[in-house]
Amino acid sequence: MSLRERDQAVIWHPYTQMKTAPLPIPIVRGEGAYLIDEEGNRYLDAVSSWWVNLHGHAHPYIAQKVSEQLHTLEHVIFAGFTHPKAVELAERLLQRLPGQPQKLFYSDNGSTAVEVGLKMAFQYWYNQGRPRTRIVALENAYHGDTFGAMAASARSSFTAPFTPLLFDVDFIPLPTRNNLPQIKETLKHLLADHQHAAFLFEPLVQGAGGMLMYEPDLLDEILQLCRSHELLLIADEVMTGFGRTGKLFACDHLQHAPDIICLSKGLTGGFMAFGATSCTQAIYDAFLSEDKTKTFFHGHSYTGNPLACAAALASLDLVERPDFQQNLDRISAQHQQFQDRVQTHSLVRECRCQGTILALEFEVASNYSYFSQIRDHLYQFFLERKIICRPLGNVIYLIPPYCITNEELSYIYHAMEEAIHAFSTLT
Ligand SMILES: Cc1ncc(COP(=O)(O)O)c(C=O)c1O
Repeated sequence: MSLRERDQAVIWHPYTQMKTAPLPIPIVRGEGAYLIDEEGNRYLDAVSSWWVNLHGHAHPYIAQKVSEQLHTLEHVIFAGFTHPKAVELAERLLQRLPGQPQKLFYSDNGSTAVEVGLKMAFQYWYNQGRPRTRIVALENAYHGDTFGAMAASARSSFTAPFTPLLFDVDFIPLPTRNNLPQIKETLKHLLADHQHAAFLFEPLVQGAGGMLMYEPDLLDEILQLCRSHELLLIADEVMTGFGRTGKLFACDHLQHAPDIICLSKGLTGGFMAFGATSCTQAIYDAFLSEDKTKTFFHGHSYTGNPLACAAALASLDLVERPDFQQNLDRISAQHQQFQDRVQTHSLVRECRCQGTILALEFEVASNYSYFSQIRDHLYQFFLERKIICRPLGNVIYLIPPYCITNEELSYIYHAMEEAIHAFSTLT
């Protein structure tokens, strides 16, 4: 039996209709921006394997550091015990995060990093005897697949089976120059009764929502208004963190620093499942008490896993090298040139970029959902060219590992232009 057949016999894949999806491609090796299959085919990973990889696959430096950690301490319960890598990582991350975060709480992935942020915010108010049980979030948001993160995300076909089980959220549109005054009016009305604990947002780029982008000054105005009503500001930097938007964190583009920041994906350079949520001293202080019921009763078996911490520290070492920012700037500049080239094409509704993220939205008449055929055709089109893209409906996008070369980028841009020209036959 081939690996594909053995896989089919035992595995249930994420976000996959197992009845109709093609069999998965067995990948046996990673190298820089490439993933290599059983037959030696080399695929350019244009989406950094679901936006996690930063410095390239199987990066020898991170591999070395994780390997050293494996031989030293693989795991230790993180309640009542600590270890050097967890402390060092928190020290270094807190220094680099925007604002003045003082404490870091570890978890396992992006969804749990958001769950932790939401629970911190709700309990912050609860512990002070002034419970606030609603939140404000952005339309089209995606914050993960656990129940709290799902509740805070846009309602869609993904969440439909669970809708009756999700807590209510007040969603506001993504701000534009035109709708900002209206959003502010709506918010003032909404926040007047002091029921909202927090505003949760993906700063500058909404990933799964379709790589939707918005301006920092507009977000700043919303943050200011929320803060004036005492809402905690929760930035979900799970996707945008670690350079994607051209700066280390998307919130580095803002004037108003968040109170809580959720991190995952690139946190370990894409090596290990890991999550972290930072908070301010004021939030932390609201949990300090002689009364044990005020404890933050949250934790996962693998909280603070030393292997994940070692990977994250190694990735931070690479982030601190001078070529890190140079690569962000280089990739941004390449994206902008491509954007200039294609954005006036009649089949391109919009080509947008923010830092190292590029999104090309096709002009289509109707049915361009995640489930549309266009999406599947585009996916195959790029796969035939040995490029891994996962279109979101009629949007194809690029979030490459930062080691990608200009030649490799050109190869992908060329394929994107081919896709534009072939688009009428793809739809
Ligand atoms: C902004 C954002 N938040 C949270 C998540 C959830 O992360 P995970 O898939 O690691 O649970 C994602 C995943 O795509 C995301 O893009």
